[in-house]
Amino acid sequence: MRKKFYVTTPIYYVNDIPHIGHTCTTVVADIIARYHKLLGEEVFFLTGTDEHGAKVAEAAKEKDLSPQEFCDQVSKNFQEIWLKLNIEYDYFIRTTNPNHEKIVQEIIQKIYENGDIYKAKYEGLYCVGCEKFITEGELVNGRCPLHPNEDVQKQSEENYFFKLSKYVPQLIKAVENPKDKFHYQISPQSKKEEVLSKLRAGVPDLSISRANVPWGIPIPWDKSQTIYVWVDALINYYSALKINKKEDFWPANLHFLAKDILWFHAVIWEAILISAKISLPKEVFVHSFYMIDGQKMSKSLRNVISPQELLEKFGVDGTRYLIAASFPYDNDSDVGWGKFTKKYNADLANGLGNLVSRVATLASRTESTYKISNIKITDKKFKKYQRFLEKYQSNDALAFIWEKISQADKYIDSHHPWNLKGNELEKVLQPLVEEIQEIAFLLKPFIPETAEKIEKQFAGPKIKSAKPLFPRL
Ligand code: MSP
Repeated sequence: MRKKFYVTTPIYYVNDIPHIGHTCTTVVADIIARYHKLLGEEVFFLTGTDEHGAKVAEAAKEKDLSPQEFCDQVSKNFQEIWLKLNIEYDYFIRTTNPNHEKIVQEIIQKIYENGDIYKAKYEGLYCVGCEKFITEGELVNGRCPLHPNEDVQKQSEENYFFKLSKYVPQLIKAVENPKDKFHYQISPQSKKEEVLSKLRAGVPDLSISRANVPWGIPIPWDKSQTIYVWVDALINYYSALKINKKEDFWPANLHFLAKDILWFHAVIWEAILISAKISLPKEVFVHSFYMIDGQKMSKSLRNVISPQELLEKFGVDGTRYLIAASFPYDNDSDVGWGKFTKKYNADLANGLGNLVSRVATLASRTESTYKISNIKITDKKFKKYQRFLEKYQSNDALAFIWEKISQADKYIDSHHPWNLKGNELEKVLQPLVEEIQEIAFLLKPFIPETAEKIEKQFAGPKIKSAKPLFPRL
């Protein structure tokens, strides 16, 4: 039986149109999914949209649409842009899917019957932008630091609470001890430590229903309340498999996301699963953020970069490359139009594109009787590349490939093949042709269309020169 690999992205809020932040997570998750396919594994890759809650309802109202009409429109934007970017997802989940809604209700009912839900008065503050309860201590100038243009809401209502605090000791053990029966990995290490120290400081129970947010899934035993949007959203990772009759992919191998939603994915989700007696995901990987020319990306700064604009300028593989090469692994990563253009020209138009076209032009002058060896991704010589991709360091995996490109360039410069002909030229070109085939192979998860083009061009029998892969900008 083939090994299974189940990877997910966050499901994005439909109050926003897709931007480079969503694109970053989705593209790199796609690269990981494709890498696991290359390893011969059976992969299920999930993405989707998060469609309930106050924030979405407000955005719909502003557009004079019903929440459902609004969700249908925006969700489509996400589906379409991912297809354009060659994201090979297996399923696109929407939380307004009635099957998802039913599964969420079943899980909440089960937790209720287990005695982990009670009714109490919630008094405090709520940030609609975050869809999150917020404490006085977290406020900056009386507002949520992430949403400084919005008022926080004062709330005082009867809610249903989930006994999150009860699970804290179990969660600490599960994160710390790889042998624990609930063990799950939080990576990178810095994020694991952050979660542990917050857990050790103590965690209150969580309000999991809302009395005044009609755009949500009703609490099964009390239709006057709806389920808190985050609880509804997290369950997508599980419901998507049930909907597709792919339960055998559970537990997820990897939830891929960024630091803004670490707590929900590394604590709340696992507590819900333990309570519902469902096994826990194996790993939660948390990346950092893109900054745009040194600043936070925001509508008010008008510096939001959309995947559509990236596609228009750099093409599908240009965009995929630039994202993967600037991936904010453990620290925020600074990007922008200027940096992207420079990198595109240096690495793609010059580096890769130039090497391929130089070698193809030289080879086209020969009989092209090059031998082609079988390339295996698990080959020892690609060990570093494998290790980087196992840790989701897409930028380092690319650096490994670009080192090969630069070695090949040096080889050409020192062998002066342009002075050679016939047999002699073929002899000098043979290792280069093989090297380019290896490079194309390793590029498959990253820039699949380009990798295929190069493979075809160098598969022979006759190697021909072709249009530049990446026109200079
Ligand atoms: N709907 C919730 C997720 C529910 S998952 C069960 C949500 N949606 S979101 O639309 O706000 O997406 C947040 C995610 O978008 C981040 O975790 C990250 O994956 C991505 N990014 C948003 N801004 C980003 C950057 N500036 N840089 C990199 N990724 C960012 O939260």
